[in-house]
Amino acid sequence: MAALFNSLCQRPTAAGEVWLVGAGPGDVELLTLKALRVLQQAEVVVYDRLVSEEILALAPPTALRIDVGKTPGRHTLPQPEINALLVTLAQGGSRVVRLKGGDPFIFGRGGEEQAALQQAGIACRVVPGITAALGCAAASGIPLTHRACAQSVRLVTGHGRDGAPDLDWRALVAERQTLVCYMGLTHCDPLAQQLMAHGMAATMPVAVVARGTRTDQQVWTCTLATLAETVRRAQPPSPSLLIIGEVVTCYRAPGVASPAQQGVVAG
Ligand SMILES: C[S@@+](CC[C@H](N)C(=O)[O-])C[C@H]1O[C@@H](n2cnc3c(N)ncnc32)[C@H](O)[C@@H]1O
Repeated sequence: MAALFNSLCQRPTAAGEVWLVGAGPGDVELLTLKALRVLQQAEVVVYDRLVSEEILALAPPTALRIDVGKTPGRHTLPQPEINALLVTLAQGGSRVVRLKGGDPFIFGRGGEEQAALQQAGIACRVVPGITAALGCAAASGIPLTHRACAQSVRLVTGHGRDGAPDLDWRALVAERQTLVCYMGLTHCDPLAQQLMAHGMAATMPVAVVARGTRTDQQVWTCTLATLAETVRRAQPPSPSLLIIGEVVTCYRAPGVASPAQQGVVAG
């Protein structure tokens, strides 16, 4: 691998290019056709922890695969080094696919990578992916908006610059709004406490979706008041996100009939 990497970085060819590609939330069938085409033409794939093996396998067998994956609390390669790596590979003339979980521009630091490439004068193109919020909601049957109870959606991160969430709490407790919190498990207790302190009902429904859209997806439902205890007991695996709002009442565990269906059966 080292030899292939060195030869790719030293090729005296025309400038290469970098594609920032969203791999979606996990289910390989949620990859876009464009992402698939670009991936199949890659010479180098620089990928993250959230990208599944199945998706990675779609790159040509000859493509150099570089894992810069970040696990929670352990950054395998610091962001400036990832930026520098992309620049070096492209300067060597490679067609590079920077493959990221979900969408590259949603909590994916794609904006920083794009800026570094632009600064180095390297062509950078972006292929959107289905972000985890949309994938997890669809795969668990929770509509993020609903005429009856949610006119807007907010995507937030539960991981602030210094760890704990640092959010505009007042704006988050607006009525008829769904919140989707990425990276929210570790600090779910302060998150719930802040939302309640700013006026959100303790009974507000919450769903924890783990490994959404994958074959091993799991969903737990609770309320804001019971969120921390639910997470402590269930220990949801990574990656997981939180959906907070009245729309969570639409969730039905697999095999459990909706109230309407139950009515039909009972009737
Ligand atoms: C660094 S962010 C990357 C988000 C990604 N760029 C996207 O658009 O989905 C990682 C977080 O996304 C959420 N996430 C990503 N994929 C997920 C999945 N399949 N199921 C549940 N949460 C997921 C988790 O909250 C995880 O901690």
